[in-house]
Amino acid sequence: MSTKLWGGRFTQPTDQFVEEFTASITFDQRLYRYDIQGSKAHAEMLGRQGIITHEDARQIIAGLDEILADIEAGRLEFSVALEDIHMNIEARLIEKIGAVGGRLHTGRSRNDQVAVDIRLYLRDEVDSVLEYLRQLETSLIRQAENHLDVIMPGYTHLQTAQPVLFSHHMLAYREMIARDISRLVDLRARFNVMPLGAGALAGTTFNIDREWVAEQLGFSGVTRNSLDAVSDRDFAIEFCSFAGILMMHLSRLSEELILWSSADFDFVELSDAFCTGSSIMPQKKNPDVPELVRGKTGRVYGNLISLLTLMKALPLAYNKDMQEDKEPLFDTIDTVKGSLKIFADMIAQMKIKGDNMRIAAARGFSTATDVADYCVRKGLPFRQAHEVVGKTVRYCVENNKQIPELTLDEFRSFSDLITEDIYDFVTLEASVNARKATGGTARDAVENELSRLRK
Ligand code: ARG
Repeated sequence: MSTKLWGGRFTQPTDQFVEEFTASITFDQRLYRYDIQGSKAHAEMLGRQGIITHEDARQIIAGLDEILADIEAGRLEFSVALEDIHMNIEARLIEKIGAVGGRLHTGRSRNDQVAVDIRLYLRDEVDSVLEYLRQLETSLIRQAENHLDVIMPGYTHLQTAQPVLFSHHMLAYREMIARDISRLVDLRARFNVMPLGAGALAGTTFNIDREWVAEQLGFSGVTRNSLDAVSDRDFAIEFCSFAGILMMHLSRLSEELILWSSADFDFVELSDAFCTGSSIMPQKKNPDVPELVRGKTGRVYGNLISLLTLMKALPLAYNKDMQEDKEPLFDTIDTVKGSLKIFADMIAQMKIKGDNMRIAAARGFSTATDVADYCVRKGLPFRQAHEVVGKTVRYCVENNKQIPELTLDEFRSFSDLITEDIYDFVTLEASVNARKATGGTARDAVENELSRLRK
């Protein structure tokens, strides 16, 4: 019982299982670096403000540096009896430098301490997630740049709709990733404020300098309400909702890659490095990576729901429930980083089978809308044009022909507005390049977009 930093009030030791049940050290040890970083800034501030002596501050900081080295060298064994990373480090500090180590916690509580730790940690992780997002964005842009002449079928309802440039399809995912980046940048700015100084919940009686500590730790400011500061986990929820949307995007791309690498589509070939074989069927090359990313989307959604449910209806301020914020957050970070890292490389190395895409694009009457638009330009109201082309397509189906294979007489049997120049409108290139307005799939429009992105 004497090992407990809070043992004073207690007469009986904690039940062994309760100790294990309430401890978070098994997972919150991942915060050690940020805990030490926050403690060093706090100790230095205490010294500057004359709340502890400069000499005490110096000893505390030196002790914390040693502990950091100990942890990194695997020399510190964490103890469940010490509950969490904060008390493990503080107890070790006192063990190392004696009673003076006990001055570190002046003007601070574990409640504002854990709040600062998670923010410092999340800020670092957000920066590496941003890095991975930018790599994926670059891979998508590179694929778009390198395959500007590849035409593929565009789908709605997974039925062939209109031909599009493969580059346009890649840039659609670039748009999603760009929005994910913007969401992440936004939420980072919102949580990058420093909660230290909130104390347990009401603030502190000591003459601390919060602004100075915030500046040392790279925060843009300080939290404005102590109750909120120790009980707010919005930032973790925001991160997990960012992550949920990102994983939703990756799961859509995954699904397409899985379809496209099937023998039935045969649009792309994923590098061997991202696939595995079957233990029984020798011909198999399975797209495991996109399948797993699609699958992992579920756990990220689950983590978001866990956090929302965890925080629901909690009274102010800190509640022990909130210790449960860490595992869902950590798992989300690990999953998102892993998925992004592997995706950036997989997209970069993906082989595009442009000829197969083109053959598929030419099937399915993908230029039917172009014939309708043609009739409209010749004066037919769109509804009637739709009817004309509907009949034309039915004729094609019954006679096993594609639209560009119809003779002029056949075309004219549906509308005498159609003349020889129809053949200039029904090729894949003509169909794609006719869609030039900003955001369309015409080669000019896509090239414009690419040069805008290069700037
Ligand atoms: N391990 C705790 C957590 O992660 C730290 C804060 C504990 N504060 C308290 N008063 N029990 O939430």
